Amino acid sequence: MRILVTGATGMLGRAVVAELSAGGHTVAAMSRRVHRWQDAEPVLADLAEGTGLDEAVDGAQAVVHLASAPYQRGYTDEVELDGTQRLLTAAAAAGVEHVLYTSIVGADRVPWGYFGTKVKAEAVVRESPVPWTILRSTQFHDFIDQAVTKMARMPVMISDRGIVGQPVDVRDVARRIGRRLVDGPTYDVEECGGPEVLEFDQLLRQWQDVRGVRKPILHLRIPGKLGKGFRGGSVTTDDRTGRITWQQYLAEKSGRR
Ligand SMILES: NC(=O)c1ccc[n+]([C@@H]2O[C@H](COP(=O)([O-])OP(=O)(O)OC[C@H]3O[C@@H](n4cnc5c(N)ncnc54)[C@H](OP(=O)(O)O)[C@@H]3O)[C@@H](O)[C@H]2O)c1
Repeated sequence: MRILVTGATGMLGRAVVAELSAGGHTVAAMSRRVHRWQDAEPVLADLAEGTGLDEAVDGAQAVVHLASAPYQRGYTDEVELDGTQRLLTAAAAAGVEHVLYTSIVGADRVPWGYFGTKVKAEAVVRESPVPWTILRSTQFHDFIDQAVTKMARMPVMISDRGIVGQPVDVRDVARRIGRRLVDGPTYDVEECGGPEVLEFDQLLRQWQDVRGVRKPILHLRIPGKLGKGFRGGSVTTDDRTGRITWQQYLAEKSGRR
Protein backbone atom coordinates (compact mmCIF):
# COMPACT_ATOMS: atom_id res chain seq x y z
CA MET A 1 0.00 0.00 0.00
CA ARG A 2 1.19 3.56 -0.64
CA ILE A 3 0.73 5.51 2.57
CA LEU A 4 1.21 9.22 3.24
CA VAL A 5 2.40 9.99 6.78
CA THR A 6 1.95 13.60 7.89
CA GLY A 7 4.05 14.64 10.89
CA ALA A 8 6.56 12.02 9.77
CA THR A 9 9.48 13.79 11.48
CA GLY A 10 7.72 13.86 14.87
CA MET A 11 8.02 11.50 17.84
CA LEU A 12 5.30 9.12 16.65
CA GLY A 13 5.93 9.87 12.97
CA ARG A 14 9.42 8.40 12.92
CA ALA A 15 8.19 5.19 14.56
CA VAL A 16 5.27 4.97 12.11
CA VAL A 17 7.52 5.46 9.07
CA ALA A 18 9.84 2.68 10.34
CA GLU A 19 6.92 0.33 11.12
CA LEU A 20 5.12 0.81 7.79
CA SER A 21 8.25 0.57 5.73
CA ALA A 22 9.28 -2.64 7.59
CA GLY A 23 5.78 -3.94 6.81
CA GLY A 24 6.50 -3.62 3.08
CA HIS A 25 4.45 -0.49 2.41
CA THR A 26 5.60 2.42 0.26
CA VAL A 27 5.79 5.38 2.61
CA ALA A 28 5.55 9.04 1.60
CA ALA A 29 6.91 11.00 4.57
CA MET A 30 5.62 14.57 4.80
CA SER A 31 7.46 17.51 6.33
CA ARG A 32 7.71 21.28 5.84
CA ARG A 33 11.46 20.86 5.40
CA VAL A 34 13.70 18.82 3.13
CA HIS A 35 14.44 15.65 5.03
CA ARG A 36 16.47 12.62 3.96
CA TRP A 37 14.83 9.27 4.66
CA GLN A 38 16.34 5.81 4.35
CA ASP A 39 13.00 4.06 4.35
CA ALA A 40 10.57 6.57 2.82
CA GLU A 41 10.03 9.04 -0.02
CA PRO A 42 10.26 12.66 1.15
CA VAL A 43 7.22 14.88 0.52
CA LEU A 44 7.31 18.65 1.04
CA ALA A 45 4.02 20.18 2.15
CA ASP A 46 2.66 22.63 4.69
CA LEU A 47 -0.78 22.24 6.26
CA ALA A 48 -0.96 25.84 7.49
CA GLU A 49 0.06 27.30 4.13
CA GLY A 50 -1.88 24.67 2.19
CA THR A 51 1.08 24.07 -0.11
CA GLY A 52 2.06 20.71 -1.61
CA LEU A 53 -1.00 18.82 -0.34
CA ASP A 54 -2.42 17.72 -3.73
CA GLU A 55 0.98 16.28 -4.66
CA ALA A 56 1.35 14.70 -1.20
CA VAL A 57 -1.88 12.67 -1.42
CA ASP A 58 -1.44 11.75 -5.08
CA GLY A 59 -1.48 7.94 -5.42
CA ALA A 60 -1.87 7.33 -1.68
CA GLN A 61 -4.36 4.67 -0.58
CA ALA A 62 -4.13 5.70 3.05
CA VAL A 63 -3.11 8.76 5.04
CA VAL A 64 -1.80 8.58 8.61
CA HIS A 65 -2.39 12.12 9.85
CA LEU A 66 -0.02 12.86 12.74
CA ALA A 67 1.05 16.46 12.08
CA SER A 68 0.33 18.76 14.99
CA ALA A 69 1.44 22.08 16.43
CA PRO A 70 0.37 22.14 20.08
CA TYR A 71 0.44 25.26 22.27
CA GLN A 72 1.20 27.71 19.45
CA ARG A 73 -1.92 29.89 19.73
CA GLY A 74 -3.50 30.66 16.36
CA TYR A 75 -0.97 28.51 14.51
CA THR A 76 -2.27 25.44 16.36
CA ASP A 77 -5.72 25.90 14.80
CA GLU A 78 -4.23 26.69 11.40
CA VAL A 79 -2.45 23.34 11.40
CA GLU A 80 -4.85 21.12 13.30
CA LEU A 81 -8.22 22.47 12.11
CA ASP A 82 -7.75 24.37 8.82
CA GLY A 83 -4.80 22.13 7.86
CA THR A 84 -6.73 18.93 8.59
CA GLN A 85 -9.63 20.24 6.51
CA ARG A 86 -7.30 21.08 3.61
CA LEU A 87 -5.63 17.67 3.80
CA LEU A 88 -8.98 15.87 3.78
CA THR A 89 -10.27 17.91 0.86
CA ALA A 90 -7.17 16.95 -1.12
CA ALA A 91 -7.44 13.31 0.05
CA ALA A 92 -11.10 13.07 -0.98
CA ALA A 93 -10.30 14.45 -4.44
CA ALA A 94 -7.46 11.95 -4.82
CA GLY A 95 -9.67 8.97 -3.83
CA VAL A 96 -7.81 8.13 -0.61
CA GLU A 97 -9.49 5.08 0.98
CA HIS A 98 -8.61 5.58 4.65
CA VAL A 99 -7.44 8.43 6.85
CA LEU A 100 -6.22 7.54 10.31
CA TYR A 101 -6.16 10.55 12.63
CA THR A 102 -4.38 10.49 15.99
CA SER A 103 -5.95 12.17 18.98
CA ILE A 104 -5.52 11.94 22.75
CA VAL A 105 -7.21 9.72 25.35
CA GLY A 106 -9.38 11.97 27.52
CA ALA A 107 -9.47 14.79 24.96
CA ASP A 108 -13.24 14.94 25.42
CA ARG A 109 -13.08 14.66 29.22
CA VAL A 110 -10.41 17.13 30.39
CA PRO A 111 -11.09 20.91 29.98
CA TRP A 112 -7.66 21.73 28.57
CA GLY A 113 -7.34 24.09 25.60
CA TYR A 114 -5.29 21.83 23.34
CA PHE A 115 -7.54 18.85 24.07
CA GLY A 116 -10.48 20.97 22.87
CA THR A 117 -8.67 21.56 19.58
CA LYS A 118 -8.18 17.80 19.16
CA VAL A 119 -11.91 17.20 19.68
CA LYS A 120 -12.71 19.83 17.01
CA ALA A 121 -10.21 18.23 14.63
CA GLU A 122 -11.80 14.83 15.26
CA ALA A 123 -15.13 16.36 14.12
CA VAL A 124 -13.46 17.57 10.90
CA VAL A 125 -12.28 13.99 10.27
CA ARG A 126 -15.69 12.47 11.09
CA GLU A 127 -17.46 14.84 8.68
CA SER A 128 -15.07 14.13 5.84
CA PRO A 129 -16.12 11.92 2.92
CA VAL A 130 -12.84 9.99 3.31
CA PRO A 131 -13.31 6.70 5.24
CA TRP A 132 -11.75 7.25 8.66
CA THR A 133 -10.47 5.91 11.95
CA ILE A 134 -9.62 8.08 14.97
CA LEU A 135 -7.01 6.61 17.30
CA ARG A 136 -6.74 8.31 20.69
CA SER A 137 -3.48 7.50 22.47
CA THR A 138 -2.26 8.12 25.98
CA GLN A 139 0.89 10.26 26.50
CA PHE A 140 4.03 9.04 24.75
CA HIS A 141 7.11 8.08 26.80
CA ASP A 142 9.22 10.55 24.79
CA PHE A 143 6.80 13.39 25.54
CA ILE A 144 6.80 12.72 29.30
CA ASP A 145 10.57 12.28 29.28
CA GLN A 146 11.01 15.68 27.58
CA ALA A 147 8.64 17.37 30.05
CA VAL A 148 10.29 15.80 33.11
CA THR A 149 13.77 16.60 31.77
CA LYS A 150 12.74 20.28 31.53
CA MET A 151 11.25 20.18 35.03
CA ALA A 152 14.48 18.69 36.39
CA ARG A 153 16.27 21.95 35.54
CA MET A 154 14.39 23.56 38.45
CA PRO A 155 15.60 23.17 42.04
CA VAL A 156 12.52 21.08 42.89
CA MET A 157 10.27 18.81 40.87
CA ILE A 158 6.50 19.29 41.11
CA SER A 159 3.85 16.60 41.37
CA ASP A 160 0.16 16.30 42.15
CA ARG A 161 -0.19 13.00 44.05
CA GLY A 162 -3.61 12.19 42.59
CA ILE A 163 -2.63 12.40 38.94
CA VAL A 164 -2.37 9.12 37.13
CA GLY A 165 -1.18 8.47 33.59
CA GLN A 166 -0.68 5.48 31.32
CA PRO A 167 2.34 6.26 29.18
CA VAL A 168 2.75 4.39 25.94
CA ASP A 169 5.70 3.82 23.66
CA VAL A 170 5.52 5.24 20.15
CA ARG A 171 6.68 1.88 18.75
CA ASP A 172 3.62 0.20 20.26
CA VAL A 173 1.32 2.91 18.87
CA ALA A 174 3.00 2.54 15.47
CA ARG A 175 2.36 -1.23 15.47
CA ARG A 176 -1.30 -0.59 16.27
CA ILE A 177 -1.52 1.93 13.42
CA GLY A 178 0.10 -0.56 11.02
CA ARG A 179 -2.51 -3.21 11.91
CA ARG A 180 -5.42 -0.77 11.55
CA LEU A 181 -4.28 0.28 8.08
CA VAL A 182 -4.20 -3.34 6.93
CA ASP A 183 -7.63 -4.06 8.47
CA GLY A 184 -9.21 -0.87 7.11
CA PRO A 185 -11.25 2.05 8.48
CA THR A 186 -13.67 1.58 11.39
CA TYR A 187 -15.54 4.93 11.28
CA ASP A 188 -15.02 4.84 15.03
CA VAL A 189 -12.88 6.25 17.84
CA GLU A 190 -10.42 3.70 19.20
CA GLU A 191 -8.12 4.02 22.20
CA CYS A 192 -4.52 2.98 22.58
CA GLY A 193 -2.92 2.86 26.02
CA GLY A 194 0.31 1.82 27.66
CA PRO A 195 0.77 -1.38 29.72
CA GLU A 196 0.39 0.18 33.19
CA VAL A 197 -1.35 2.99 35.01
CA LEU A 198 1.16 4.98 37.09
CA GLU A 199 0.80 7.76 39.60
CA PHE A 200 2.74 10.83 38.49
CA ASP A 201 4.85 10.43 41.63
CA GLN A 202 5.87 6.87 40.63
CA LEU A 203 6.66 8.11 37.16
CA LEU A 204 8.92 10.87 38.54
CA ARG A 205 10.68 8.54 40.99
CA GLN A 206 11.42 5.94 38.30
CA TRP A 207 12.78 8.74 36.10
CA GLN A 208 14.98 10.02 38.95
CA ASP A 209 16.28 6.48 39.73
CA VAL A 210 17.24 5.69 36.15
CA ARG A 211 18.73 9.13 35.47
CA GLY A 212 20.53 9.25 38.82
CA VAL A 213 18.85 12.56 39.70
CA ARG A 214 18.06 13.32 43.34
CA LYS A 215 15.74 16.31 43.64
CA PRO A 216 13.03 16.99 46.18
CA ILE A 217 9.47 16.55 44.92
CA LEU A 218 7.12 19.36 45.90
CA HIS A 219 3.49 18.19 46.11
CA LEU A 220 0.87 20.61 44.82
CA ARG A 221 -2.77 20.12 43.95
CA ILE A 222 -3.83 21.33 40.49
CA PRO A 223 -6.96 23.39 41.22
CA GLY A 224 -10.40 23.41 39.61
CA LYS A 225 -11.90 21.32 36.83
CA LEU A 226 -8.52 20.81 35.22
CA GLY A 227 -7.05 19.16 38.33
CA LYS A 228 -10.21 17.11 38.78
CA GLY A 229 -9.99 15.95 35.17
CA PHE A 230 -6.38 14.83 35.39
CA ARG A 231 -6.80 13.35 38.90
CA GLY A 232 -9.88 11.34 37.98
CA GLY A 233 -8.01 8.99 35.65
CA SER A 234 -9.47 10.72 32.59
CA VAL A 235 -6.27 10.32 30.58
CA THR A 236 -6.16 6.56 31.10
CA THR A 237 -8.00 3.81 29.21
CA ASP A 238 -8.92 0.13 29.57
CA ASP A 239 -6.92 -0.52 26.40
CA ARG A 240 -3.50 -2.09 27.06
CA THR A 241 -2.01 -2.18 23.55
CA GLY A 242 1.39 -1.03 24.80
CA ARG A 243 3.91 -3.64 25.88
CA ILE A 244 6.94 -1.45 26.62
CA THR A 245 6.83 -0.03 30.16
CA TRP A 246 8.07 3.40 31.28
CA GLN A 247 10.84 1.66 33.24
CA GLN A 248 11.92 -0.32 30.15
CA TYR A 249 11.85 2.80 27.99
CA LEU A 250 14.02 4.71 30.48
CA ALA A 251 16.49 1.83 30.91
CA GLU A 252 16.77 1.34 27.16
CA LYS A 253 17.30 5.06 26.56
CA SER A 254 19.95 5.31 29.29
CA GLY A 255 21.73 2.30 27.78
CA ARG A 256 21.92 4.11 24.44
CA ARG A 257 23.52 7.24 25.96
N1 LIG B 1 2.93 13.63 22.32
C1 LIG B 1 2.05 12.84 22.96
O1 LIG B 1 2.27 12.40 24.10
C2 LIG B 1 0.75 12.48 22.27
C3 LIG B 1 -0.17 11.67 22.95
C4 LIG B 1 -1.35 11.29 22.30
C5 LIG B 1 -1.60 11.71 21.00
N2 LIG B 1 -0.70 12.52 20.38
C6 LIG B 1 -0.98 12.92 19.00
O2 LIG B 1 -0.14 12.17 18.14
C7 LIG B 1 0.21 12.95 16.99
C8 LIG B 1 1.73 13.02 16.85
O3 LIG B 1 2.27 13.69 17.96
P1 LIG B 1 3.84 13.86 18.18
O4 LIG B 1 3.98 14.23 19.62
O5 LIG B 1 4.54 12.68 17.63
O6 LIG B 1 4.13 15.13 17.27
P2 LIG B 1 5.47 16.03 17.25
O7 LIG B 1 6.64 15.24 17.67
O8 LIG B 1 5.16 17.31 17.98
O9 LIG B 1 5.63 16.36 15.71
C9 LIG B 1 4.78 17.29 15.08
C10 LIG B 1 4.86 17.05 13.58
O10 LIG B 1 3.92 17.93 12.95
C11 LIG B 1 4.53 18.45 11.78
N3 LIG B 1 3.99 19.77 11.49
C12 LIG B 1 3.88 20.84 12.33
N4 LIG B 1 3.36 21.90 11.68
C13 LIG B 1 3.13 21.50 10.41
C14 LIG B 1 2.60 22.14 9.25
N5 LIG B 1 2.24 23.43 9.26
N6 LIG B 1 2.50 21.43 8.11
C15 LIG B 1 2.89 20.13 8.07
N7 LIG B 1 3.41 19.45 9.12
C16 LIG B 1 3.52 20.13 10.28
C17 LIG B 1 6.03 18.52 12.08
O11 LIG B 1 6.72 18.35 10.85
P3 LIG B 1 7.93 19.29 10.31
O12 LIG B 1 8.41 20.14 11.47
O13 LIG B 1 8.95 18.30 9.85
O14 LIG B 1 7.34 20.06 9.21
C18 LIG B 1 6.22 17.29 12.98
O15 LIG B 1 6.57 16.16 12.23
C19 LIG B 1 -0.47 14.31 17.20
O16 LIG B 1 -1.71 14.29 16.57
C20 LIG B 1 -0.68 14.38 18.70
O17 LIG B 1 -1.75 15.21 19.08
C21 LIG B 1 0.47 12.91 20.97
